[in-house]
Amino acid sequence: MRATKATAPGKVILFGEHAVVYGRPAIAVPVTKVQATATIEAAAPGSGCAISAPDIGARIRLLSAPDDPLATAVRLALEAAGVDSEPDWNISVTSTIPIAGGMGSGAAVSTVLARAVLSSAPTFDGCPDAETVNRIVYAVEEIHHATPSGIDNTVVVYEQPVWFVRGSPPETFDIAKPFLLVIADTGIASPTGQVVADVRAARQKDAARFDSIFDAIGAIAEEARRAIAAGRLEVLGVLMRENQQLLRQLDVSAQSLERLIEIAEGAGAAGAKLSGGGRGGNLIAMVEPEKVDPVREALLAGGAANALVTEVGA
Ligand code: MEV
Repeated sequence: MRATKATAPGKVILFGEHAVVYGRPAIAVPVTKVQATATIEAAAPGSGCAISAPDIGARIRLLSAPDDPLATAVRLALEAAGVDSEPDWNISVTSTIPIAGGMGSGAAVSTVLARAVLSSAPTFDGCPDAETVNRIVYAVEEIHHATPSGIDNTVVVYEQPVWFVRGSPPETFDIAKPFLLVIADTGIASPTGQVVADVRAARQKDAARFDSIFDAIGAIAEEARRAIAAGRLEVLGVLMRENQQLLRQLDVSAQSLERLIEIAEGAGAAGAKLSGGGRGGNLIAMVEPEKVDPVREALLAGGAANALVTEVGA
């Protein structure tokens, strides 16, 4: 076989995280400045399939780790390709997407594994189709957390801005004018599954309050979609502040996030909010072009582990 390589981007959620798990709409965009990569090379005949992920110090054998997310992505892709015996492969995965940082690292790693396996399988000819890859990645997301909405796998696999409502086919959306975001990492890993489980437990005690917060977040996502389609970019910062206020009420923010959000807004961002599961991970800040450098520098000086700039709709 020839060596195969696959890549996939990270993502940020612009509006609607957590509420999207409960059927409200959300908006997410791919972030190509960070990415996961998988390569597959032939191994000696009879040696079986090994998966290594040096970034997380993992080295596993396909058949001896049935519940592992990496092995599951490979196994499901082999099944989808109709391969029923263990291939002799060395698979390696690397990623520049922060782990447990709300930027879709888990979905991107599963995506590159599924793409690389489907492209390498002797039974498979052509390009892995997005729907098959999306189905595999969603199944692996269910291992990371029990009730994924499906937004992370969708935006990462389709590599397009996504307007997402759980259970409906993914749609993209119009972007009248490109805009800039600074994405800053608190450096604090926060597995999404845990935060989603905490929100679920809290909602069980007070469903009416949580559902009205989810409604308000959904209304912000709708308003943001209209503003983005009309090029009314000045509205987005305000909507980010409002969305963040509601995320605080869900108890998914954290001191580390609040501090950096305050720094970003103090340095000239029009608004900022956490992105993804929260309690750590990354935040996004809406910035005019002339504010990019001051906001980025202030975030780094204020303790952000990293701060990168992405253009949405370019
Ligand atoms: C995580 O990126 C987004 C959440 O809404 C979880 C999900 O949608 O599955 C927190």
